[in-house]
Amino acid sequence: MYITTNKALIAAALALACSGGAAAQTASSSPSTPAAEAHPKYGFGTNITDDDLKQFVSPLPDGRGLPSGSGTVMQGQKVYTQQCLACHGVNLEVGIGDRLVGGRGSLAKSSQGGAPVKTVESYWPYATTLFDYIKRAMPFTTPNSMSNDDVYAVTAYILSKANIIPDDATLNRESLPKVVMPNHDGFKPANR
Ligand code: HEC
Repeated sequence: MYITTNKALIAAALALACSGGAAAQTASSSPSTPAAEAHPKYGFGTNITDDDLKQFVSPLPDGRGLPSGSGTVMQGQKVYTQQCLACHGVNLEVGIGDRLVGGRGSLAKSSQGGAPVKTVESYWPYATTLFDYIKRAMPFTTPNSMSNDDVYAVTAYILSKANIIPDDATLNRESLPKVVMPNHDGFKPANR
């Protein structure tokens, strides 16, 4: 029974990925895959509306695609305490989730035998990616649940704890792309 369920779901997902909603509908309503009907919450075969697309955030490094809204470091501290601290720790350095700050310069030193400490502060080249990631992937158990204001705010809090922006900073679609990350120049285009 389990195998049938998984097969049906995978078939529906593949159909959705390969040829859009119409094919997925066929897959999930096919008589050979009745188990998929037991999982209507996945929404395979649902038509995507303009409103759905408006909810989809995917900013580029230069800020195109960032939504409106804004948040301060102070507001972000509140969001962090309520929604992130349990997994990322009081100082953003330990926990069930990844370490978020520290390790600056450790990537360059790793070529001399030191251990690289990969964090938002030491590794990530663009601040817009931080907004994007938090918006779509965090909090880990309830992704995509935060308002844009809260995401701007908690992004500001993390960047201030990483000593990248000042404590009184406000982030929005204009100011976020202007933040220069410490490892911005650490990425080299592949020579091919
Ligand atoms: C239930 C635990 C949990 C909560 C709550 C949580 N996170 Fe995470 N977070 C994780 C885990 C686990 C990862 C690693 C995910 C992975 O590698 O796929 C992670 C990764 C991240 C990363 C990427 C770090 C990196 O360098 O790769 C960021 C940024 C982040 N979380 C921010 C947040 C923010 C902001 C919040 C609060 C709004 C939050 N997280 C809430 C567990 C959590």
